[in-house]
Formats: sequence, C-alpha cells, structure tokens
Amino acid sequence: MADLGAGGRASDESIPLARPVLGEAEERAVLEVLRSGQLSLGPRLEQFEGAFAARVGARLACAVSSGTAGLHLALRAVGVGEGDEVITSPFSFVASANAALFERARPVFADIDPVTLNLDPDAAAAAVSGRTRALLPVHIFGYPADMPAFEALADARGLAIVEDACEALGAVHADGVAVGGRGHPAVFGFYANKQLTTGEGGMVTLAQPALKQLIDSERNQGRAPDMGWLDHDRLGFNYRLSDIACALGIAQLGRLDAMLAERARVAACYREALSGIDGLQLPCADTNGDRRGWFVFVVQLPHGADRDETVRALAAAGIQSKPYLPAIHLMSFYRERFGHREGEFPVCEDVAARSLALPFFPQMSEGQVARVATELRAALERVRQEAVAH
Ligand SMILES: Cc1ncc(COP(=O)(O)O)c(C=O)c1O
Repeated sequence: MADLGAGGRASDESIPLARPVLGEAEERAVLEVLRSGQLSLGPRLEQFEGAFAARVGARLACAVSSGTAGLHLALRAVGVGEGDEVITSPFSFVASANAALFERARPVFADIDPVTLNLDPDAAAAAVSGRTRALLPVHIFGYPADMPAFEALADARGLAIVEDACEALGAVHADGVAVGGRGHPAVFGFYANKQLTTGEGGMVTLAQPALKQLIDSERNQGRAPDMGWLDHDRLGFNYRLSDIACALGIAQLGRLDAMLAERARVAACYREALSGIDGLQLPCADTNGDRRGWFVFVVQLPHGADRDETVRALAAAGIQSKPYLPAIHLMSFYRERFGHREGEFPVCEDVAARSLALPFFPQMSEGQVARVATELRAALERVRQEAVAH
C-alpha cells in the first residue's frame, strides 16, 4: 500500500489520475470491525459521524452509502418534491442534478462564474421562479461556492439550501467557517478519488436534530429509532454505510490534515511547472479569504487546442488525463428529457469544452509533476504546430 511521502518513480512508469492513501491504520481499523462481527449499524457509525461533524464544525452528521444518496436524502429532508424546481450548476458531476429528478423535481441550471467555476449567484437569482424550492450550489473542484450570496438569496425568496460538498472536504469560507459547517444540509462524498475515502460512501452534515432524525430513518428503510425490528413508519431506502466503511473513514480522518497538505503541495508544484504556457488556464488561486480543499487539478486548455489529441499524446507517454467535467445540460439524457441545447450556458460550455484533469494525488512526487508538465507542454506545442500546418 502506498504511504505518504513515497518518492519519485522510474520515468517510464505510468502516472494514474488518482490514487488513495491507505496504510496500516486503515488495515487495523477494518480488521477490528471484521473481528468484532458487527459489520453494520455498529459503534463505528456514530463514531464516524461524530468525528466528521467535529472536523467540519457541524452540529450533526449522517453517514450514508454515497454522495448521491446523501443528496437525495438531503433534498427530501428540506421538502423538495414533485413539481418543485431546484437551481443548480450545469458544471458538476451529474449526480447533483439527478438527485432532484429522483423526487420528480426539476433541476434548473444557471451559468457559472468563469473564475471559480461555481454557480453564479446572479444567474441563480435570475432563474428563481414561483416553483423554486431550493438552491443546490456545488463547491466544484473543492473551491467554496459563494454561500453568503446564496444565503441572502434563499432568505429573500424563502428557499431551502442543500450544498453539494462532495468535492470540498477541507475547504474553508472567507468567514472562517469550513465548508459543511454552515448549518444547511451539506453533502460529502467518499469515493476512492476523494480527499477522504471509504471506497464508496458519503456524509450529510447539518444543524437541525429533526432533519437528522428524518435522514437517519430514511437511509434505513424508514425505520424510526424506537420502533421494533420490522416496523416502518415512512418510506425509506437502504442508504446505510457499513461499519467497515465507517472504520475506514475514521482512520482516514486521522490522516486528513497530512493528505490535504500533500494535495496542496502537489498543486503548488503544478502551478510552478505549468506557468507560462500560452492560453493555458490553471485552477483559480484562493481569493478574498476563501480556501480550496484540493480535490483535482483541472486545467483549461488554450482555445483551439485539440483536447482529444492532447489526451492521446499524454496517454502515449503513460500519463492518464480526462476531460472533466462535461456540461450536464448537454448530456444526451438531459437534452432528450428537457430539450437543452448548446448556447444556453456559454461560460459553462466553454469551460467544459476545454477542461482536462491531470494526475493528482497526495503521494505524487515533484518528478512526476514535472513529467506531466513536460509532456503537456510538448503535446500542446505539437498539436499547435499541426493545426498551423493544416
Ligand atoms: C460534485 C459531485 N456531486 C456528487 C457526487 C456523487 O458522489 P458519489 O459518487 O459518492 O455518489 C460526486 C462524486 O463523484 C461529485 O463530485
């Protein structure tokens, strides 16, 4: 298993997009649960919830089986239902919009800020209608969304807020509150590429005990805490997180600060190694006191650069990269269901057409970053020269 601080690799070794940091603490934690015989709904569940809530400064937390499950339950908890509209970002992972559809509500997209790549509060305000029930800002790529602006909008129009913080563990707002600590339900994801992983998993942080009780029940088939084994007083789901996963999560929390610091180190290496490439846009620097919780390193290629060819060139050099993220409204399901077309959200579409995720993980060495930068420079130059020649 990889450890923090692992050194550089042979130059011909392939470099993956992401790689979790797992070690003896995780092995021990999982083995303990296996030996205890209580693999689900055991003591690790509450321990993980308590430790996670404390970590982000939230009053309460509910562990769930995935970020998607958390978004679904959080939207239900704030009252989103059939016919409602939920305003969200088209530049996100598809789950943030899908979660509204699970409840027969409609995700209504608004364009993004070209610098932070987060939902633009003015565009969101313009999209509010009589049917709007909730705002669902996404802290994309770990950069804090402008929550004070969304909170003002929600107050003025009587809307609920659910935050998609799946990519944002470790991020902090300018007012010093960590992402997930503001009180509205905020949803984190623990898939293997995230800042903290439980393999699959998620967490909803929140402030209201009544909402926690509702989410705890709905993740467990609608069972009330004081009810008998097979009595259910509402519709529910199986969105539970096993004690094995919770134990992994607790162990990962123990190394979170170190992993976040390593991610920030790798990001700083990239920033230096990629400086001066004409037209290449790097992730925005922290501004006005907001602090990113580093999740991915996504660049925007220069206008006119051939992204597919760049991906192929990097792959030929043993370097994984991925167009990330595609615009949700232009996915075939969303086009067919809602009639979305190109041109609706020009900032998002421009960003989505040029975005490329580069390898990014805590153990990445300076040498690996340098190799990616060298190959990317060369690929962009080749592609540019070929375009000129044609
Ligand atoms: C922004 C965003 N929202 C939602 C999700 C869904 O989380 P999960 O994969 O845990 O269901 C992800 C995860 O990839 C994400 O990045």
